[in-house]
Amino acid sequence: MEDKFKKLEKLRSAALDGGGKEKIEQQHKKGKLTARERIDLLVDSGTFQEIDSLVTHRSQDFGLDKQKFYGDGVITGFAKIDGRPVAVFSQDFTVFGGSLSEAHAEKICKIMDMALKTGIPIIGLNDSGGARIQEGVVSLGGYAEIFLRNTLASGVVPQISAILGPCAGGAVYSPAITDFTFMVRNTSYMFVTGPNVVKTVTHEDVSFEELGGADTHASKSGVAHFVFNTEAEVLEGIRQLLSYLPLNWMDSPPEKIFTSDDLIIPELDTIIPDNPNKPYDMKEIIELLTEDFYEVHSQYAENIVVGFGRIGGMSVGIIANQPKALAGVLDINASVKGARFVRFCDAFSIPLIVLVDVPGFLPGTEQEWNGIIRHGAKLLFAFSEATVPKITVITRKAYGGAYDVMNSKHIRGDFNFAWPSAEIAVMGPKGAVEIIFKKEIKNADKPEEKLKKLVEEYTEKFANPYIAAERGYIDEVIFPRETKKRLIDSLNILKTKVDNNPKKKHSNIPL
Ligand code: COA
Repeated sequence: MEDKFKKLEKLRSAALDGGGKEKIEQQHKKGKLTARERIDLLVDSGTFQEIDSLVTHRSQDFGLDKQKFYGDGVITGFAKIDGRPVAVFSQDFTVFGGSLSEAHAEKICKIMDMALKTGIPIIGLNDSGGARIQEGVVSLGGYAEIFLRNTLASGVVPQISAILGPCAGGAVYSPAITDFTFMVRNTSYMFVTGPNVVKTVTHEDVSFEELGGADTHASKSGVAHFVFNTEAEVLEGIRQLLSYLPLNWMDSPPEKIFTSDDLIIPELDTIIPDNPNKPYDMKEIIELLTEDFYEVHSQYAENIVVGFGRIGGMSVGIIANQPKALAGVLDINASVKGARFVRFCDAFSIPLIVLVDVPGFLPGTEQEWNGIIRHGAKLLFAFSEATVPKITVITRKAYGGAYDVMNSKHIRGDFNFAWPSAEIAVMGPKGAVEIIFKKEIKNADKPEEKLKKLVEEYTEKFANPYIAAERGYIDEVIFPRETKKRLIDSLNILKTKVDNNPKKKHSNIPL
């Protein structure tokens, strides 16, 4: 028996070595951690249970039969994060550049299948040269098996990807289907075709970082939801994100103990400027209302702010117009960003808190020709379809179609509040008066004065929350200082909310 145990020890030790000492040194020299070091930082100490550590590839071509490494370039298993179970795979760049073979893909699929059966989140740490070139189509088949599972798991368990090295070609589509993508600056990149192919096809000179680095995807493409300077920060970020999420769609989001005698926040009363055209920072309001706000997509479409937070210890998803960026208008990117976030929260029973200060949709040919109609519809559709608790607070402007879109009462907002500074109208006073009193202003002795007077009259009459409140479109006009208390009370009432959509195969959100 002793010999048999020794053999297992030897095999396990070989598996722990990955691609060998030299390759590990090269990995460190690039400023990257190894696949195992990453898992150690990600999960609770001592909880990682590896499986398939002795798997090898079966390829005979190109001399691969003489090059075998236990694990075959990916470490897979189960662990705990903050005491809650997760499935993890971590690609090992020291073995064939982390490239994906048939066996490598099978290992990933095995833990994904188990995660689906047991209802636990899947975390993928990606660092790979892509399809194992020597294996050809077998490796492409492996990717497709993963994509299929990513798709089937969507909305069942949270799926999180971290890109910690190369992720190119078809490989990008697994992270793209998952719910959230993290990237690290300088050592990770994602693209469908790299700088060399780009140069050949479009004659553009572009670096790896510029084409597909972390900041590019965080600010330009929106592919990355979170970016950090170091891998350790990425892994800590994943832990934090998970703290807001349930294990699966049937589970409830975790709740933290919250005790506070005083829920009145006087600072909220002084945030909205007297001049309705002056910007302010919506994030200040969010910070005051939440115990800990974790922003998603902070560099992308900054005119809408989305992220997770806790209010009274309860996990919530916050969607807020940001008057500080583009006056808070809805444009294509903001609509798509908001819609995807709303759908994630709805899939995973995370209540929505919607803070509204929106002057409308962004005008212009660029927006119209690129389909603001189609994309704006996504946000409207996502809010309309959502059946989780939905609470709206209008802080200032709620103009036109954007009023309807931003979780209005009419699309099943559960509690719709407005601050006294709210202006709920078809459009801003000046624009409205210029249209309805066009002739009167033109024919007036002093058109400028007439316009001013009419704008004042319109503002007095319509730029407030009271007409909407008279109709019950607003459930209550509240003092800003009492907002947190109202939100906690409403969230508690809505804990037992049940709402359903008509039975169907699936909806057809405008894509
Ligand atoms: N298939 C098989 N082996 C691969 C591989 C792949 N797709 N990608 C990398 N490797 C191997 C390399 O041959 C090298 O092996 P070696 O150490 O035995 O020489 C090792 O992984 C490390 O790769 P290397 O090129 O030295 O690392 P790098 O950091 O300089 O470059 C990449 C990384 C990803 C840019 C580069 O390896 C690359 O271009 N790979 C191919 C990408 C691709 O076209 N994939 C297929 C389409 S999806």
